[in-house]
Amino acid sequence: MQAILLVGGFGTRLRPLTLTTPKQMLPVLHRPMIEHVVCALGAHGVDRVVLALGYHDEAFRAAYPDGRCAGVDLSWVVEPEPLDTAGAIRFAYTESGMESSEGTFLVANGDVITDLDVGEMLQLHRTSRAEATIHLIEVEDPSRYGVVVTDSDGRVGAFVEKPQPPAPSNWINAGTYLMEPSVIGRIDAGRRVSVEREIFPAVAEDRSLWALRRNTYWIDAGTPQTYLRAQLDLLDGLSSAGVSSAGVSSERVLSGVSSAGVSPAGVPAGVSPEASIDPAAVIERSVVMAGAVVGTDSVVRGSAVHAGAVIEPGAVVLDSVVGSGATVGRGARVTDGTLVGARFEVAPGVTLSGARVPGAA
Ligand code: GTP
Repeated sequence: MQAILLVGGFGTRLRPLTLTTPKQMLPVLHRPMIEHVVCALGAHGVDRVVLALGYHDEAFRAAYPDGRCAGVDLSWVVEPEPLDTAGAIRFAYTESGMESSEGTFLVANGDVITDLDVGEMLQLHRTSRAEATIHLIEVEDPSRYGVVVTDSDGRVGAFVEKPQPPAPSNWINAGTYLMEPSVIGRIDAGRRVSVEREIFPAVAEDRSLWALRRNTYWIDAGTPQTYLRAQLDLLDGLSSAGVSSAGVSSERVLSGVSSAGVSPAGVPAGVSPEASIDPAAVIERSVVMAGAVVGTDSVVRGSAVHAGAVIEPGAVVLDSVVGSGATVGRGARVTDGTLVGARFEVAPGVTLSGARVPGAA
């Protein structure tokens, strides 16, 4: 099975972290987000992934120069300008040579980490003779998402983007699709086309769109809250997706830190053995990456401290992300979903709550 991974978006909701690093190259529990996604696909029979690149494409190309990622063959195409989700699928399909293989292919949003059983989805896709099949997940508040209404056997009746309340269903598009090559013919070349707003409604209209409703582990790691939660979920072992769980050695891939919370003696789970932690620092349920320094009497709780960041003595970091090479100054407090951009310096004694520094452009 071949897959197209959509990883060309600007990731505006994660600014300023995404100003320097594209979203799917941001670390999730010590490895780039994309590795967890590709590894999970690989575990479900995907043997070739085409990256649909755009924004900061060079970061991906530099990270995987030999065309392998988490044991899967990787190739890429770079859009000359953002073509939106369906435009990106068409461009990747035609430019990467997938056209010649003709078979069913998978498409996934690059920021979705899930335990979805692709084999089960493929079975539904085949038995229903669908042109496209979507994974659906149930959420409490569907108003921010694409809501999908299905009949009892899974055929999609309606596809409604960001509905006004009351929503017609709580099942939303979870961002993993199976498609037949004929879907490509529905997408105009050379312009921005959204798969959610244009293509799926058209396929549903033709009664050829099916959906698999499965409340398996799933997270769209594209907001500050979910980006942080994805890391803590993997740390807590809530998902079997991810690099340490699909036969890839956690010793090698995660530099000795396992996602199941088991760690070498003396190193708290989630803390890289290559981080430097003062014995008088308190670290609770957090990810502290290689080369980070956490000083005496500081507290890091429910947070992610990226590679090379420095938490100075007496500083407090709660439920926040400190970007790579950033500094939280002596006695500063960084709390409530604050994002500190790469190499930014939070001055000593400053308090930040729910902030983004530097301010998003
Ligand atoms: P926000 O700006 O925070 O909404 O993030 P985003 O730009 O990543 O958009 P969104 O999360 O809605 O996109 C869903 C998926 O499609 C993500 O994996 C994006 O990287 C990807 N994506 C969105 N637009 C494009 C595009 O024009 N080209 C490509 N190749 N991928 C895209």
